Amino acid sequence: MLVSKTGQIVITQTTELQKQSFIISREQKEQLNGLKSFVLWFTGLSGAGKTTIARELEEKLFDRKIRTAILDGDNTRMGINSDLDFSKEGRKENIRRVAELSKLMNEAGLVVIASFISPFEEDRMLARNIIGKESFIEVFVDAPLKTCIERDTKGLYQKALAGEIKDFTGIDSPYEPPVYPSIHIKSGEQLQQESVLHVLEWLSNNRRI
Ligand code: ADX
Repeated sequence: MLVSKTGQIVITQTTELQKQSFIISREQKEQLNGLKSFVLWFTGLSGAGKTTIARELEEKLFDRKIRTAILDGDNTRMGINSDLDFSKEGRKENIRRVAELSKLMNEAGLVVIASFISPFEEDRMLARNIIGKESFIEVFVDAPLKTCIERDTKGLYQKALAGEIKDFTGIDSPYEPPVYPSIHIKSGEQLQQESVLHVLEWLSNNRRI
């Protein structure tokens, strides 16, 4: 059950549930695709370039006949997560749900590109645990806050600095950079195409594609 009137999220799980298994396994679906599915988990400030890189990367993977799905914070927060705010609890639940979705998509044989600010280490660890550490690839899309504020593609930093938006990451809500990301993209310095190439090279060198 979900209680959001008070701003509190309460999830109860009954014990009268049994995990069901089906006939066609994840492995069989992966075999059909000729590829083990995984999640590229993009984390970084708003405006760091996560969505732009995800978009172009998906195109490149598609060209290689790799089946993908993108999960993006702005979109999922308009749909499945439209009941969640940007408080610490709201963000945690956001990440929990999209991690569960990513896992389901992986089980269906898809490569997932998940693009979320996901500012808290603890929440990214939760995502890693849900998805499974073998399938979870953390990608730090790293642009300095100053650059993101200067770019301000959505005009949100201006609003946050004016106090019109509360709990904005980098302004009045923290961003905890990943300590050991698998892939570190310096999107403040690199061109977008270089960033995409960087991810593709990593995937190829690590025999993921
Ligand atoms: S997360 O912190 O919970 O991972 P998520 O990636 O889903 O965030 O959503 C971030 C997007 O929501 C941003 O790109 C921005 O467009 C929008 N947004 C609106 N309010 C905020 C806020 N207070 N903090 C950060 N992003 C916000």
